[in-house]
Amino acid sequence: MSFVVALDGPAAAGKGTIARALSARFGFAHLDTGLLYRATGLRALREGAGAVNRDHAVEVAETLRAEDLEAEGLRTGPAGEAASVVAAIPEVRAALLKFQREFAARPSGAVLDGRDIGTVICPDADVKLFVTASDAARAARRFAELSAKDPALTLEDVAGDLARRDARDAGRADAPMLRAPDALLLDTTELTIDAAIAEAAALITRKR
Ligand code: C5P
Repeated sequence: MSFVVALDGPAAAGKGTIARALSARFGFAHLDTGLLYRATGLRALREGAGAVNRDHAVEVAETLRAEDLEAEGLRTGPAGEAASVVAAIPEVRAALLKFQREFAARPSGAVLDGRDIGTVICPDADVKLFVTASDAARAARRFAELSAKDPALTLEDVAGDLARRDARDAGRADAPMLRAPDALLLDTTELTIDAAIAEAAALITRKR
């Protein structure tokens, strides 16, 4: 029987690292659902010559291809920004729903990380986690990640981008970023990522 771990939370809180570790430890398939929105946003932006058009974004989401998930530039700031713009369009979310639900049903078990996994995509997930950290800690982590590739970037830029993206993700009407009432809260501001992984793994072991 499949086993589903839903991992939600704001940008740069440590979700991806925790999801990858759980996937390796328990043999679960892992889907970084942010990639679906990033791929949709980036293609919509490129094909729209720098502007995201709503109808076109819906069309892109409906015809998203496996290779779009491997496109160059998905992990950049502009792709994250475009992702959060298209993610606020209900028809885009609807187009990406089936793929995520099918992924969650894999017999190996699955861990999905995103913003609405425990609330909308997999409300019956076996384990739900909400990973967060202070704004300052998240900005510092994302800055460390991105500044190597972009030396002109400042911490203030990164903090501003994250704040704008989080506000849009939490404030949208359809599937806003939200902690499910039954999700375990993991605050990684003080907790090391290893300790967070250990807490999550213990919960999974208890529920399995
Ligand atoms: O997690 P990541 O930073 O890659 O996500 C990029 C954007 O995609 C988020 O800011 C959010 O707008 C959107 N997203 C979403 N629902 C998810 C995953 C990501 O709306 N399940």
